[in-house]
Amino acid sequence: MESLYGGALHRRVTIADLQAAKSRGEKWAMLTSYEQMTAEIFDEAGIPVLLVGDSAGNNFLGEANTIPVTVDELIPLTRAVVRASKRALVLADLPFGSYESSPQQALETSIRFFKEAGAMGVKIEGPHCATVEKLVASGIPVMGHVGLTPQAVHVLSGYKVQGRTDGDAILQAALALEKAGAFAIVLELVPAELAARITAALTIPTIGIGAGVHCDAQVLVWTDMMGITKNPPKLAKAYRNMRSEMVAAAGEFAAEVKASQFPAPEHSFN
Ligand code: KIV
Repeated sequence: MESLYGGALHRRVTIADLQAAKSRGEKWAMLTSYEQMTAEIFDEAGIPVLLVGDSAGNNFLGEANTIPVTVDELIPLTRAVVRASKRALVLADLPFGSYESSPQQALETSIRFFKEAGAMGVKIEGPHCATVEKLVASGIPVMGHVGLTPQAVHVLSGYKVQGRTDGDAILQAALALEKAGAFAIVLELVPAELAARITAALTIPTIGIGAGVHCDAQVLVWTDMMGITKNPPKLAKAYRNMRSEMVAAAGEFAAEVKASQFPAPEHSFN
């Protein structure tokens, strides 16, 4: 079996590749992507899984949070990420209101992401086990998501660490999702020790975000990771400061235009 990194460059990463990585203890990274350029760049960097997250709401669509995001908004973003990548497994988040009513509703939404955008799997927040069973039985791979589930921010009274006092409930939810057929589970904003316990208890990979170093994989919202987000959450690390780079570049462009320095002869035509 090839490594997820620098290995299977000639084809898409599969769920079997992720499972094999867990078996041999190889950790991997997932990033969000909402459009063509980041999909191309992260694919080139060898990121094996790209998530068209509903975090597009507050990182791409100008919303305050993920709740207003719709299926019609996420489908073209997902299509762009699929088209722009060659190697990554591309997953779509099912947005709030598009799957909770019934397993049938979730299936109909997922089928849209598959047929209209080319998604290769979906992610669902919360322990909707009957829904996971229905989707998997219908050919739709499902990534679960427990701990802090941002679509439930109002029930949870904010973006707070989950599972400090009721860690077993989160462990049980993760086990139930695995039993229902989920191929991986995001653990968001839970104590590192709880995430380690869940990771050891599950046979499928865990993907941490604010869940410590012992998860099988880690995910970050790309705008946090690149230092573009204005007020990033504590769980995120900015690997570059792209916001200040871009502000500086836009300022230089404007100054050169004002000074008639751009376009230079090499950018002009006879
Ligand atoms: O929407 C999203 O970006 C997510 C990840 C942070 C896991 O759900």
